[in-house]
Amino acid sequence: MKWSIKRPFSPLYRAIYEVKRYYYASKYPAEEFKPKELVSPGYLVPGPSAWKGLDKIIPALISQLGLETHSCIEFGVEKGYSTAVFAQYFDQVTGVDTFQGDRHAGFIDTYGIAGSNLNQFKNITLIKDNYQHYTTVDHAEYNLCHVDIIHTYEDTYACGEWAVRHAKCVIFHDTISFSNVRKAVYDLSVKYNKKFLNYSHHHGLGILI
Ligand SMILES: C[S@@+](CC[C@H](N)C(=O)[O-])C[C@H]1O[C@@H](n2cnc3c(N)ncnc32)[C@H](O)[C@@H]1O
Repeated sequence: MKWSIKRPFSPLYRAIYEVKRYYYASKYPAEEFKPKELVSPGYLVPGPSAWKGLDKIIPALISQLGLETHSCIEFGVEKGYSTAVFAQYFDQVTGVDTFQGDRHAGFIDTYGIAGSNLNQFKNITLIKDNYQHYTTVDHAEYNLCHVDIIHTYEDTYACGEWAVRHAKCVIFHDTISFSNVRKAVYDLSVKYNKKFLNYSHHHGLGILI
């Protein structure tokens, strides 16, 4: 097997990951989130997802942060990996995505795949829209919001800003892989006086509460 920088668990990938983890911790400080338990949900969407592994910390996130579990909204569904996880812990889950992909996730139409992967969950509502429009028409309050869209600073900040105003807790994927995401989460934590926790595995999960 040929090792490459992109292969997630190659030695070079791990070394770069550790450098980023150390560097971001000093540049955009956050307290490490330490789950007291790791629990796998009953169902996981098959196939690859950068979100793999984070599914195990959701019960700890809910209990350690004292979250209610009536409602969850997610921006960035793709094939539904994270959406399926939330649907097993929250009464109602709304998943918003253009389902057209982006330059980081790749440009593929995943609407049909997500629908098929999530078919068994009657508590999921999928909405084919961009966050820019959707956030102008939804004025509801949520117990949890997950932001995992295109990983630019501007988009993460704008979507995250709506999220901190509409959810008790907001989580952001890729706070280690993408410095723009980490900076946006850090800046939101300062502006809104939110506690910034970070789980630094599986590409990083930023938590604002
Ligand atoms: C990294 S993927 C999401 C991965 C997913 N959370 C999982 O568990 O595998 C990013 C998704 O964000 C969507 N996206 C990108 N820009 C968007 C926007 N402006 N509004 C809504 N969705 C967007 C893409 O279509 C893509 O499906």
